Amino acid sequence: MTLTLDTSDKPWQEIYRRLTEIIQPRPIALASTLNAEGQPNLAPFSFYTLISCNPPYLAFCPQLAGRTGQKKDTLRNLEVHPQFVVATVTEAIAERVNQASAPLPYGESEFAYAGLTPLPAERIRGNLVQESPVNMECELVEIRNYGSEGGAGNLVVGKILLLHIDEAVLDAAGAVDPALLKAVGRMGGEDWCRTSERFSYPRPDRA
Ligand SMILES: Cc1cc2nc3c(=O)[nH]c(=O)nc-3n(C[C@H](O)[C@H](O)[C@H](O)COP(=O)(O)O)c2cc1C
Repeated sequence: MTLTLDTSDKPWQEIYRRLTEIIQPRPIALASTLNAEGQPNLAPFSFYTLISCNPPYLAFCPQLAGRTGQKKDTLRNLEVHPQFVVATVTEAIAERVNQASAPLPYGESEFAYAGLTPLPAERIRGNLVQESPVNMECELVEIRNYGSEGGAGNLVVGKILLLHIDEAVLDAAGAVDPALLKAVGRMGGEDWCRTSERFSYPRPDRA
C-alpha cells in the first residue's frame, strides 16, 4: 500500500510536516544577521544548501511565520543589511542553537539568549559565532519570495566571501574531518541527527 497525497488539497501545515519527514537529513545554517541599528540576530534554518561553487553561493529559506504570516527577523534584517554569516551547527552547540530559534522580539539578540558569542566578521559588517568551528561570511545575492501567507518560503541566496575553519577540525592532510567537526542535522518533528556514522563509495566517474 502506498500513501499518496495531493499537495493541493491538504492544509500547508500537513504538507510541511510530511516534507520535513521525508526530505532528510537536512544540514542546518546558523544565520547571523544585523538590523538597521546594528543589533545582532541569530537563527537556525534547515531549508539550507550549497547551490554553486563557481561562484560560491549558498541558499537558505526563512518561511513566513506559520501563525502570523510575518517575516522572520532574519529576512527583515537581510532586506536592510545585505550581509550575513552562516555558521555550522555541531553537537557541542546543538542545544543552544535550538534555543536560538526562540521568536524573540525584533532587535533582541539570540546570541545572548542562547549563550553564544558574537565575534566581529572581517570582510562584512556582521558577527561570526565563536563557538562554531566553521563560519562563512556572505553577501546577499538575491531574495526570492514564494508567497504571502504563513509557510511561504523566501529563498535567500548569498555569495560566500570568506571561510573561517578552526584548525582543530582539520585532519593531517588539511581536510575537514567529519569526526572532529561533529556537524548535526535536522530530521522530522523535533528530531535531529548526528553525522558520526558514515560510509563511502569510490565515484564511478573517477575510477
Ligand atoms: C534546527 C532548526 C531548523 C529550522 N529551520 C527553519 C527553516 O529552514 N526555515 C524557517 O523558516 N524556520 C526554521 N526554523 C525556525 C526558525 O529558526 C525560527 O522561526 C526562528 O525564530 C527564526 O528567527 P528570526 O525571527 O530571528 O529570524 C528552524 C528551527 C530549528 C530549531
